[in-house]
Amino acid sequence: MSKRIDVDDLNVYYSDFLAVEGVSMNIEPKAITALIGPSGCGKSTFLRTLNRMHEVIPGARVTGKATLDGEDLYGPQVDPVAVRRHIGMVFQRPNPFPTMSIADNVLAGVRLNSKRLSKSQAEETVETSLRGANLWNEVKDRLDRPGSSLSGGQQQRLCIARAIAVKPDVLLMDEPCSALDPISTLAIEDLMHELKSDYTIVIVTHNMQQAARVSDRTAFFNIAGTGKPGKLIEMDDTTVMFSSPREKATEDYISGRFG
Ligand SMILES: Nc1ncnc2c1ncn2[C@@H]1O[C@H](COP(=O)(O)OP(=O)(O)O)[C@@H](O)[C@H]1O
Ligand SMILES: [Mg+2]
Repeated sequence: MSKRIDVDDLNVYYSDFLAVEGVSMNIEPKAITALIGPSGCGKSTFLRTLNRMHEVIPGARVTGKATLDGEDLYGPQVDPVAVRRHIGMVFQRPNPFPTMSIADNVLAGVRLNSKRLSKSQAEETVETSLRGANLWNEVKDRLDRPGSSLSGGQQQRLCIARAIAVKPDVLLMDEPCSALDPISTLAIEDLMHELKSDYTIVIVTHNMQQAARVSDRTAFFNIAGTGKPGKLIEMDDTTVMFSSPREKATEDYISGRFG
């Protein structure tokens, strides 16, 4: 649980289009790393390379190196499905299976990994995961209701419960709060704070206050213009990035002067 990711000179393509160029970064375990930068600079694209979700798009490919605790994520023997089990993902829009029950939603990933569970194991996984996602008390009396019966913020926590049910090492979150109201957003931020003692977390956010509130480290990506590749401009402790960044582009972005 909670492993580090090291990226070395990663280039990310959609067919011939170089979307992200030359990213090298170290993502620490038991910490929250925020990826920030203007729209289109490749934050989502880069994030999806970390659990090999990028390559599901036809023509999409990656060069360079990414390792999980030293193990090559793109090695020839590596099964991308296994990578996605170790490195889970939460998306911008909560995407529970709408007709599936709350309990079955939590178990969906575990079952996809073709693990057979006894009834008591299943119940335990549901409870532990929902407790881990700070949702148990709100849903424990209606576990057989459909996932769609929950509010947006609850649905997002259900998706987090589903992601942690498979006991991943890393959680990737792509703007997980952007479809949520402020109260649900704070609930997710509190949850992230608790989860970081067990998981490596990488979050994309366009909300500077959120990056400053939740993250330990911040990476700023930027793009020189349309059709140009996104690049990592700088990365540092979040307090440093928000008080005294080295690059002017970073300062302009975080102070809202562009982007
Ligand atoms: N499926 C795709 N096919 C081709 N190009 C894509 C695809 N998804 C994103 N891109 C392009 O990659 C670049 C980075 O996009 P994205 O990673 O979504 O940026 P961000 O998340 O920072 O807003 C953009 O130029 C975007 O148009
Ligand atoms: Mg994005």
